[in-house]
Amino acid sequence: MYQEINLDKIDMNAEPPAEEPARQYYFMAKCREWVREFEQKNGRRPTAFIQTFGCQMNARDSEKLRGILLRAGYEEGRDETADFVLYNTCTVRDNANQKVYGRLGHLQTLKKKNPGMGIALCGCMMQEAAVVERIQKTYPFVDLIFGTHNIYKLAELLYRCQTEKEMVVDVWDSAKEAVEDLPATRKYPFKSGVNIMYGCNNFCSYCIVPYVRGRERSREPEEILAEIRRLAEDGVKEVMLLGQNVNSYGKNLARPMTFAELLRQVNEVKGIERIRFMTSHPKDLSDDLIRAMQECKKVCRHLHLPLQSGSSRILEIMNRRYTKEQYLDLTERIRRAIPDISLTTDIIVGFPGETEADFEETLDVVRKVRYDSAFTFIYSKRTGTVAASMEGQVPEEVVKDRFDRLLCEVQQIAAKVCGRDAGSTRMVLVECENDHQQGYVSGRLGNNLLVHFPGDASLIGKIVPVKLLESKGFYYIGKMEEAEDRR
Ligand code: SAH
Ligand code: SF4
Ligand code: F3S
Repeated sequence: MYQEINLDKIDMNAEPPAEEPARQYYFMAKCREWVREFEQKNGRRPTAFIQTFGCQMNARDSEKLRGILLRAGYEEGRDETADFVLYNTCTVRDNANQKVYGRLGHLQTLKKKNPGMGIALCGCMMQEAAVVERIQKTYPFVDLIFGTHNIYKLAELLYRCQTEKEMVVDVWDSAKEAVEDLPATRKYPFKSGVNIMYGCNNFCSYCIVPYVRGRERSREPEEILAEIRRLAEDGVKEVMLLGQNVNSYGKNLARPMTFAELLRQVNEVKGIERIRFMTSHPKDLSDDLIRAMQECKKVCRHLHLPLQSGSSRILEIMNRRYTKEQYLDLTERIRRAIPDISLTTDIIVGFPGETEADFEETLDVVRKVRYDSAFTFIYSKRTGTVAASMEGQVPEEVVKDRFDRLLCEVQQIAAKVCGRDAGSTRMVLVECENDHQQGYVSGRLGNNLLVHFPGDASLIGKIVPVKLLESKGFYYIGKMEEAEDRR
């Protein structure tokens, strides 16, 4: 059972406890002592700033990291001029890595101005030995490096940083234990990600995630449900169930359970009004899940179903374990069962050996499925993956040309598809005041599209009916209707 430990009741003269999470609360209290000394010296508390790169998993990890820093006494910093800067990194494509290296140079300049500044790096990039080596050699001003398997240890590592001079490096090859009962602060009070599983077993041949996130581990359903109930009590209306392949959830539990069953149970949690999930691997999407989506009223009419390539030949080399025909058949079955569903996808262009004919197959799927949106990526060679040593890397100009053609197709279709609800009234979860237009707020439809409409801050966190007056391609302009529950 989840229990936060009162930091004021911890005996600071005792040895640190060996068991978790008590050990981390002990170090949070230790850090807080350090923070008090800082405050006495400087007349203010130290600030901490986290920059997150990458996917929803990293975003959720950052909420946990932020929770620990705030409990340790830090104040939230607004940017990299903070006293403690933490980059939670991503390594799925090389440009994610380059961004981090680029910004490290800037951090060095800032540290010269504020020598007491702490610089820390964590996340997927740090799971690669070559990256850690490069940072140790080229960026010796970094104070702390840790990986994806020990984020729960931030308080202990931070305390070491505060009291030791050397760079602290602590990266584990695999997960030893899952420590969950630690504080987390949400970015939005009304919605939250919830990890249902960690890691990935699929080894798609281009992908580095299984190497940096480790093997697939599902959390016990009771733990997940308890966390969601707690979130609901705390005002959360929307949860996003997170995993690299949620469709294989529960296979390795002592008492196996399917993702469809979990979804039905989450649907019963009082106070939760919307349920989303990411990501679904097409090879494991069952008819029972389609039925569960149909039955569960709180599950959003949106499915992110990564295609990667439309060519069965390339899919095979990618180790995706479905063909073009199977994918198309799956989308048809989903559309038949849930006609108003929004489908979105991920596509890679320029995988080794991809020919013009293969690429045409991808365009063909895009035209047939008609996605609401698609994330399109240029293939990026990741050291250690099977594809990295494949023959036939596609020349850059060819990839660029295909990428532009794909983007054009995707956008033309999306602009039409996204506008299909114009004129109707839909429920919108209001997220924030609009930055660009005073007197407007912005929120999201069940299918995740943005809607801007006149309103004020008192609506934030509420689900309200909005008439969709005009489609602007990728968002709507609307007008709030009288409250009455329509979905
Ligand atoms: N687990 C999810 C995806 C995680 S990574 C899934 O299986 O769908 C998110 C996306 O990044 C992938 O869907 C893929 O399209 C893209 N991606 C992963 N590795 C890549 C690489 N080496 N080059 C380009 N894109 C890549
Ligand atoms: Fe990567 Fe494939 Fe796992 Fe997704 S399913 S994280 S693409 S290996
Ligand atoms: Fe990136 Fe790691 Fe997510 S590599 S995409 S942050 S799992």
